[in-house]
Amino acid sequence: MFLEAGLLTRRSVRQFISGKKVDRDVIEDLLKIAMYAPSARNCQSWEFVVIDDEEKKNKLAEIHPYAKFLQEASLAIVVCGNTKEACEEGYWVLDTAAATENLLLAVHGRGLGGCWCGLYPNQERMQNIADFLQLPDYIKPCALVVIGYPQKTPPMPQDRFKTEKIHYNVF
Ligand SMILES: Cc1cc2nc3c(=O)[nH]c(=O)nc-3n(C[C@H](O)[C@H](O)[C@H](O)COP(=O)(O)O)c2cc1C
Repeated sequence: MFLEAGLLTRRSVRQFISGKKVDRDVIEDLLKIAMYAPSARNCQSWEFVVIDDEEKKNKLAEIHPYAKFLQEASLAIVVCGNTKEACEEGYWVLDTAAATENLLLAVHGRGLGGCWCGLYPNQERMQNIADFLQLPDYIKPCALVVIGYPQKTPPMPQDRFKTEKIHYNVF
């Protein structure tokens, strides 16, 4: 099954073959998988802003301090929380985080590469992106996901399994 192998081999990709487009039907396949993420009371309090316009993408790369590699990537998706749809105060953060991870796994499963670039909880970064994307007040940008064709296969992750992180019945 894809799942386990995919989970263990996903890495952040920051080097892309520039100038290669991802078709919108592929983008929507990726977003479909993002939308199958779990969400609190199944409220699905997420929204996705796709930036595949070259000029806008490059501007976005200038705005985010740690996403300069977006310039070489094919597109970015800003995963946003819809505060009107969240089941309770603050739950949009969790819903969008789950959707973001699903999106990254979908990207990896397609042979593309992606990197989660943080927005939430950095208020200044969120505001800059909200202004740039002209988001209404109730839409909160949570994660900028950079997507493209990887220049090379990223290395296997180091072993992250740590038994000391596991606590049975009591911490
Ligand atoms: C909330 C969050 C914010 C992150 N922000 C950035 C970022 O701004 N720029 C970046 O290059 N990587 C960012 N990353 C990616 C992490 O650096 C990366 O996931 C981590 O080093 C583990 O590496 P891996 O994804 O290859 O397993 C972020 C990841 C998370 C979950």
